[in-house]
Amino acid sequence: MTNVAVIGAQWGDEGKGKVVDWLASRADVVVRFQGGHNAGHTLVVGGQTYKLSLLPSGVVRGKLGIIGNGVVIDPDALLAEIARLEAQGLAVGPDQLRIADNAPLILPVHAALDRAREVARGDQKIGTTGRGIGPAYEDKVARRAIRVADLAEPETLSAKLDELLLHHNTLLAGLGADTFTKSDLLARLHAWAPRLLPYAEPVWERLDALKREGRRILFEGAQAVMLDVDHGTYPFVTSSNTVAGTAASGSGIGPAAVGYVLGIAKAYTTRVGSGPFPSELHDETGRLLGTRGHEFGTVTGRARRCGWFDAVQVRQAVKVGGIQGLVLTKLDVLDGLPEIHVCTGYLLDGARITRLPASPAAQARVTPVYESIEGWSASTRGARSWSDLPAAAVKYVRWIEELTEAPLAILSTSPDRDDTILVRDPFAG
Ligand code: IMP
Repeated sequence: MTNVAVIGAQWGDEGKGKVVDWLASRADVVVRFQGGHNAGHTLVVGGQTYKLSLLPSGVVRGKLGIIGNGVVIDPDALLAEIARLEAQGLAVGPDQLRIADNAPLILPVHAALDRAREVARGDQKIGTTGRGIGPAYEDKVARRAIRVADLAEPETLSAKLDELLLHHNTLLAGLGADTFTKSDLLARLHAWAPRLLPYAEPVWERLDALKREGRRILFEGAQAVMLDVDHGTYPFVTSSNTVAGTAASGSGIGPAAVGYVLGIAKAYTTRVGSGPFPSELHDETGRLLGTRGHEFGTVTGRARRCGWFDAVQVRQAVKVGGIQGLVLTKLDVLDGLPEIHVCTGYLLDGARITRLPASPAAQARVTPVYESIEGWSASTRGARSWSDLPAAAVKYVRWIEELTEAPLAILSTSPDRDDTILVRDPFAG
């Protein structure tokens, strides 16, 4: 048995919730290692609907959840999420959740700066979730972040805030936004301390112990490879590394412990926010995919942009993300389409290429080259074995495996947890 890391293979929202929930039910501990409350998914367990954003999915199944140092934590968002789950009857105390004491905090200044900068960018905006994710990571790298452990040393907070506010208030004032006062932020930090510190610990020690006990660890990625700050469609990306390698550095466990890397992709493509999307459809088919797939953002409610499956993009994600097996979701959204297109190459300035170039200008210029395959009229929804699927649907799935150079591990055929065809058990390695 091995550990498993699960990551998105497109631009996010691939339907991770259902898969992560299924995997979490088979794991002993679930670890978040990057991102923050910009992520979001809905879990339906025992007839109850839970909306998770920052908490590791396992908490709704009574599994230990760990928030690693690679996550940026907004204390208000975290406490509100815990309160929501507790109101639904779940216990989310220090026995169920541990938080890395070296994780940086998202403060109200970060969200304010995130939004003010997006306004200033005008039509060049990134389309961030406005939750302060980018500015919080910037502060971490700039070495002025306030981290969870700092809350235990209240006498150090005033000087830390001086440094932080010097930077942020200057920027906020320059952007014409409201500035923050130290006393207000200090009061918030003091109020959060007794509520957060009971959860805090050096999680690397616990992970080391769990590893030695042979516990199954699930590393739960957020966002997706094409939103990775290095490997994604920069600058239209999130501010963390979303690839599976981050599971090690973002939680404090060695790379060998990350285990099997599972990538999740939809049978078509969606994206929220701005940025290149070569196979985007602006026509009736694009609208059909959006309507049938209920393509609205979980966090911001924004309508997602929709397009054909982009095998060039997913293949690239497979390579840079180290994806060993693919989960394909939402195949049923394609049911009834007479013909299905897949992007198998790009044209860039007249030349055919099979990767997304690094430069944003070149990314914006690529046009998709499509190949097509016959669709199917029968429903694939709810299929639980290959024999339940029309032959053309099986052919489509096999073609995607071939094009992306990733073997299929799981096919998901509806939001229902049991509507799944398991090809390979990820925990079997
Ligand atoms: P940020 O992470 O809020 O800075 O947003 C940067 C980009 O990542 C924007 O295009 C967001 O729409 C996108 N993004 C962030 N989190 C998610 C997610 O969980 N799913 C899909 N897109 C996301």
